Amino acid sequence: MDRVLSGIRPTGYLHLGNYFGALKNFVRMQEENNCYFFIADYHSLTTHPKPGDLGTNIKNVLVDYLAAGLDPEKCTIYIQSDVPEVCELTLLLAMNVYVGELQRVPSFKEKVRRQPNNVNAGLLTYPILMASDILIHRADKVPVGKDQEQHLELTRDFAQRFNHFYGVDYFKLPVAYNFGDHLVKIPGLDGSTKMSKSDNEASCIFLSDSPELIRKKVMKAVSDSGPTEPGQPKSQAVENLFQLMEAVSSPDTLAFFEEAYQKCEIRYGDMKKQLAEDITSFVAPIHERIMTLRNDDDYLRKVAKLGAEKARESASKTVNDVREIIGIRKL
Ligand code: TRP
Repeated sequence: MDRVLSGIRPTGYLHLGNYFGALKNFVRMQEENNCYFFIADYHSLTTHPKPGDLGTNIKNVLVDYLAAGLDPEKCTIYIQSDVPEVCELTLLLAMNVYVGELQRVPSFKEKVRRQPNNVNAGLLTYPILMASDILIHRADKVPVGKDQEQHLELTRDFAQRFNHFYGVDYFKLPVAYNFGDHLVKIPGLDGSTKMSKSDNEASCIFLSDSPELIRKKVMKAVSDSGPTEPGQPKSQAVENLFQLMEAVSSPDTLAFFEEAYQKCEIRYGDMKKQLAEDITSFVAPIHERIMTLRNDDDYLRKVAKLGAEKARESASKTVNDVREIIGIRKL
C-alpha cells in the first residue's frame, strides 16, 4: 500500500478552493492508501502568527479536515509539533544541504521580496523541514499543487544525497501525486483566477461560512455589464461565476445560465442567487459537522492524541535508522 503524505499550514479556515483542490481528494485517497495528513504548525511560524491565533487556527483546520470527511481510523491525522522527531531529522539532513542552494529556491526569493523585514532563518530552512515531514514517514506520494513542486524536487535531492553520501539505499524518492481529472480549480469571487486567502479573504467562501454569509459574499461577487452580442467571450469575472457553478450546481442549472448568456438574456443577479443557494446546499453537511465538532474538545483531543501516537511510531523508527546510518550509535 502506498504511503501518501500531505501537510497544510494552519492560517485559518479552509475554503472551497482548499476543498476541491485537495481535501476532496484526500477523502478519496484515505480509502486506498496509507495516508498521513498533518497540520504544519512549525512551518506557519515563519510568518510570526500571534500565539492565540496559532492555537485557534490549528483547531479550526483539524475541525475542517474531520468535517470534510477525513477519518482518523482510516488515516493518520496529526499536528506536526506533536511529532518532535521531525526536528531531529531536519537537523541531521541540514548538514548536507548548502546555504547557496536554499538561497536560490524561488519560494525563498519570493518571500525575501514580499517580506524584506522578516527574512528569518526558518524561511531559509523551510525546504529542509518539509523534506523531513515527507521522508520521516518514507512517503511514496505527495499530493502537491504547482507552488510546492519545487519543494518536492528538493526533497528528492536531499534524499538522494543522503543515500549517496552514506552509501545506502534508505530513503525512497517521493513523487507528486497527480489528481489528474479530479483536479478542479476554484476561482475567487473578486475576479481573480484562484480562491486565495492570502490574496483576498473576501473572495473566499469558507466551509464554515453560514448561509447568510455565503449569500452576502456571492451577491457581491464581481461580474460585468453583460454580453451585448451573441457569442461574445466571457470576462474573467463572469467565467469565474460559471466555473463555481460547474463545481456545485446541477448540469441543468449550468446549461440554463449558459444559454441565457449566449442569448444575451442573462441576469447576473438571478445567477448569483442560484449560485449562493447551490453553494449553501453543497457546504451544508460539512458546515453542520463543523459546528458540532467545534464544541467537542474531548473528541478533538482524542483525535490529536491518536494521530500523534501513530505518527511518532513511524517517525521514531526513521530517526533511529538515520542515527544508526550516520554513526550515532549506542555505546
Ligand atoms: N509547504 C506546504 C504549503 O505551504 C505545507 C507543507 C509542509 C507540506 N510540509 C509539507 C506539504 C509536506 C506537503 C508535504 O502548502
